[in-house]
Formats: sequence, C-alpha cells, structure tokens
Amino acid sequence: MEGTIPMSSNTRIAVVTGGSKGIGLEVCKQLAASGITVVLTARDETRGTAAVEQIKQLGHSDVIFHQLDITDASSVARLSDFLKSRFGKLDILVNNAATDGIEHVIDPVYGVMPGGETFDGMDAHQRTVWMWSTCRETHEKAKQGVQTNYYGTKRVTEALLPLLQSSSDGRIVNVSSNFGLLRLFRSEDLKNELNNIDNLTEERLDELLDMFLKDFETGAVDARGWPAEFSAYKVAKAAMNAYSRILAKRHPELRINCAHPGYVRTDITRNSGILTPEEGARNITSVVLLPEDGPTGAYFHEGPQASFV
Ligand SMILES: NC(=O)c1ccc[n+]([C@@H]2O[C@H](COP(=O)([O-])OP(=O)(O)OC[C@H]3O[C@@H](n4cnc5c(N)ncnc54)[C@H](OP(=O)(O)O)[C@@H]3O)[C@@H](O)[C@H]2O)c1
Repeated sequence: MEGTIPMSSNTRIAVVTGGSKGIGLEVCKQLAASGITVVLTARDETRGTAAVEQIKQLGHSDVIFHQLDITDASSVARLSDFLKSRFGKLDILVNNAATDGIEHVIDPVYGVMPGGETFDGMDAHQRTVWMWSTCRETHEKAKQGVQTNYYGTKRVTEALLPLLQSSSDGRIVNVSSNFGLLRLFRSEDLKNELNNIDNLTEERLDELLDMFLKDFETGAVDARGWPAEFSAYKVAKAAMNAYSRILAKRHPELRINCAHPGYVRTDITRNSGILTPEEGARNITSVVLLPEDGPTGAYFHEGPQASFV
C-alpha cells in the first residue's frame, strides 16, 4: 500500500483527505510541487494509487498513498498508526474530503454529470439554481452529510492532533465553503450561538447537529431558521468552522484555519463551477503555506481572510 521514500529531518509531511480527485488531488500536486512529502489519502485504494501515479508522472516522487475513509474509525486509526511509525509527526493536515448531503436527480437535458461547457454564459447564481433544481434533500443524505463533513473531519483531526503537536509548525486547513457562512442561518439565535466561540462547546455543537437532523426529519428546517437549500451541507460546514475556531483557541501552538476554494468544476458541483480544480486548490494551498506566524482560527474566502459570518 505504501511506497518507500527517503526523508531528511526537515522534510514537511502533509496528509490530504479525499485526495484522489477534484480539489484534493490538485492540492496534493501543489503541495508535492513545493517540496512537501504528501500522504494522499482516499477511501478507494485503486483510485488513490492511480492518483499517486498521476502525480509521480509530473515528476514529484514524494507522494504516497494511504487508504482513509473519514467515516470509519478503524481506517482513521490505521492511518494514524502508519504516520506515527513512519514519520513520528505530521506537519500539515488538509481536511478536504466531503459529500454534498443531497440526492441527485438526473437532468433530462444535461444528464447526471454535464460537461463544464454546458454552463458557459451562466453566472454563478444561475449555475447554483441549476444544481438545486437537480437534487432532492432526504433525511438519509442529510445524516450522511453531517456524519462525513462534520464528524468525519473531527474524527480525523482528533486522531492526528498528537502527531501535529509533534511538529514544530503544525497546521490544519479545513476545506470549508461559502455555504458554511453564518449569514445563511435564518435564525439570529442559531447564528449568534455558532459565532460565540468563547461560550460554544463541542457538546453544544453535537446538540445543535442532533437538533438539526430532528428538525430535518420533522420538516421544521424553515421554522427553526436553519439555512435553506443544501441545508445539511451548510449546517455541517458551519459546525466544522465553529469547531476549527474552538480548536484554534485551545491549541495556540498550531495554525488551524478554514478556507473556501471558490465555486469549482468538480463532481460535487456536477461540473457547474466557475474555477478549475487547479485554481480552487490554489485557494487552499495558499492558506496551507501561510507564514509560520500567520493567523489561526481564521476563515479565508478564495484567498483573502474574511468573516465567518
Ligand atoms: N467544488 C466546489 O465548488 C466547492 C466549493 C466549496 C467547498 N468545496 C469543498 O471542497 C472539498 C473538495 O470537494 P471537490 O469540489 O473536490 O469535490 P469532489 O471532487 O466530489 O471531491 C470530494 C472528495 O471527498 C472524498 N470523500 C467523500 N466522502 C469521503 C469519505 N467518507 N472518506 C474519504 N473521502 C471521502 C471523495 O472521495 P470518493 O471519490 O471516494 O467519493 C472525493 O475525493 C470539499 O470539502 C467541498 O465541500 C468545494
């Protein structure tokens, strides 16, 4: 499963989740190109090893594959054991893996995965309207969205935190979204609670996510003031942002930030995005590679620092 690569004492090690395609794959390429040893992870071993081969073809040899399904505790533990025995530390964790939390409906004209050129001439709003018109929100998918995007990200983070603390410059970049911004919450109370990082706890985040899923099941999403449209994805990303901020306060020795890549042509947007995966990935790697004394607990919107609200 893993190749052997020589390592000097100052080699930086990065783990990228969901690295076999889309933005994750491009982040792996960009980090490898800047001389970082990349552990490209993916839940599917065949696709993951093919992605590593693709990067090696570009001339970057310091890339290795390790299987990781972020929703599977034993898979996360295997990755952690591997990193510990192989490197004894981790410098960079890019939590990129995520799912859309919705069910797709096949567009009768465009099909299931239209080519990017299909959307030429449409602005971002028109493209998002198209995405929304070709999906259905179900309780099963909403649960999967929260389990993957929030609890999966948290599981990986907790497991790898001790290794990040063994680095002299440990960093976490959580790939977030403008869909996770608090302005999308229609309830002022929910918005304020998620923004009040001094009082918010992980236990309260669990309670809020349970409440969201119950409201989803009983049709109370609008009444409670949760975000409309793609609500599970938006709530899970907002919770991940809040968790990042809590963690950044608790671990001032690390740099823990969130970054929105932009609206990117990948599977999750069914190719409806505006940026290429390479361009979207630049907005993530620029945050990964911020100077050592750079911000922590911050949100970056397609490059510049911006508000979580
Ligand atoms: N594209 C955009 O416009 C956009 C905008 C804002 C934020 N983002 C964020 O950018 C990140 C990357 O998305 P993308 O646009 O590159 O979409 P993508 O091409 O659909 O990639 C999603 C990746 O996540 C992986 N994944 C899903 N569930 C997983 C699990 N349980 N364990 C491990 N890996 C899992 C997928 O692996 P499989 O191939 O095995 O499914 C895939 O590699 C996500 O966090 C997304 O929310 C994207």
